[in-house]
Order: sequence, then C-alpha cells, then structure tokens
Amino acid sequence: MSMMSIRAATPRDREAIRLVEEHAFGQQAEAGLVDALVTGGDAVVELVADEDGQVVGHILFSRLFVQNGGKSFPAVALAPLAVEPSFHGTGIGGALVREAHIRLKAAGETLAVVLGDPAYYGRFGYSRARAAKFESDYQGEALQALAWDEAPETGRLVYASAFGSALAA
Ligand SMILES: CC(C)(COP(=O)(O)OP(=O)(O)OC[C@H]1O[C@@H](n2cnc3c(N)ncnc32)[C@H](O)[C@@H]1OP(=O)(O)O)[C@@H](O)C(=O)NCCC(=O)NCCS
Repeated sequence: MSMMSIRAATPRDREAIRLVEEHAFGQQAEAGLVDALVTGGDAVVELVADEDGQVVGHILFSRLFVQNGGKSFPAVALAPLAVEPSFHGTGIGGALVREAHIRLKAAGETLAVVLGDPAYYGRFGYSRARAAKFESDYQGEALQALAWDEAPETGRLVYASAFGSALAA
C-alpha cells in the first residue's frame, strides 16, 4: 500500500520541488519564484507531499506585510501551490493547504492572502470579501484572504521582493 505524508520541506527536496512546480504549471516561473523566496529568507511555511519517498506536491507561504499608516503588520501569502499532474484530484492540494494552515496558526500567524481561483480556495475559508479593502497591485476577483484572528482589513499588501523580480522575468 502506498503511503502519502505531508511534511516540512528540507534542503534535499529542492530539485524535486522544482520539478513538481514545473510539471504543475508547465513553465519555470513558479519554480524560480520558489527558489527566490527561499533564498531570500522569506519562506514562512513550506511543505511537501511525499508519496513513498517521491515529492508529488508542494506549498509555500511567504512573508507579506500589511502597511497601514506607519504600521507594518506581518501576514503570509500562499504561492505557489503545485501538485504533480498525474496526482491531481486525489486530495493532495487540499491536504497541503490544511496542514500548512494548522502550522501557521500554531506559529501565531493570523492572516493569509492568496491570488487564485475562488472556486478552489473558498473551500479552505479564503474569501474575496475579506480581501476587498486591501490596496494591492493584484487587487481583483482572484485576491482572497483568510483571517484566523484579529488582523487588518485595510492597508497596502507588500509582498516579498521575489514576487517583483518573478513578475519582471
Ligand atoms: C490546483 C491544484 C494544486 C489542486 O491540487 P489537487 O491535489 O488536484 O487538489 P485536490 O485533490 O485537493 O482538490 C481537487 C478539487 O479541486 C478542484 N480544482 C482544482 N483546480 C481548480 C481550479 N483552478 N479552480 C477550481 N477548482 C479546482 C478540482 O476540480 C477538485 O474538485 P472536487 O473536489 O469538487 O472534485 C493542482 O490542480 C495544480 O497543481 N494545478 C496546477 C498549478 C496551479 O494552478 N496551482 C494553483 C495556483 S493558484
């Protein structure tokens, strides 16, 4: 019987993570973003789905700040989430999101944002309404947020610098 586990990513997983990201997205941009976020020290929670020793899924939450007046509130951004195509629809994406949320909450994080399909992320509690008042270059239907505790509802979302260079690439 095969065994799937969700665990923290380790330095040994880097090449396997790159491949999962490339296979899932069909391009290299997301794999490059992951490397840049990790190298930049901006990763907050990074997990892999491990099926009998093979990395078949990956999720990364990176540091993001909500800037409001003179204050800067630490939050996290979910990106990217990737599952090896041959494993799609088997619950791995959902398992990665839920386990990451448990770890983020345990670490005291109170706010997460994501840019993605509301039909997918809504099931994990992300909502468009919670993100609607943020100021962001990515403001729009795909921007959603999830708060586990008190956190700002307004302010400017400042992503890790790797997002800027990834988009420019
Ligand atoms: C999105 C992704 C991570 C989901 O992983 P997964 O392991 O297949 O997801 P799960 O098995 O947990 O969930 C499958 C469910 O999500 C739905 N789903 C998958 N992608 C979706 C999308 N883009 N929009 C809406 N629903 C989606 C499936 O239809 C399925 O629905 P069901 O539960 O009602 O049958 C995976 O499809 C993937 O790697 N895609 C390419 C990369 C990508 O788009 N990442 C997200 C970027 S924001």
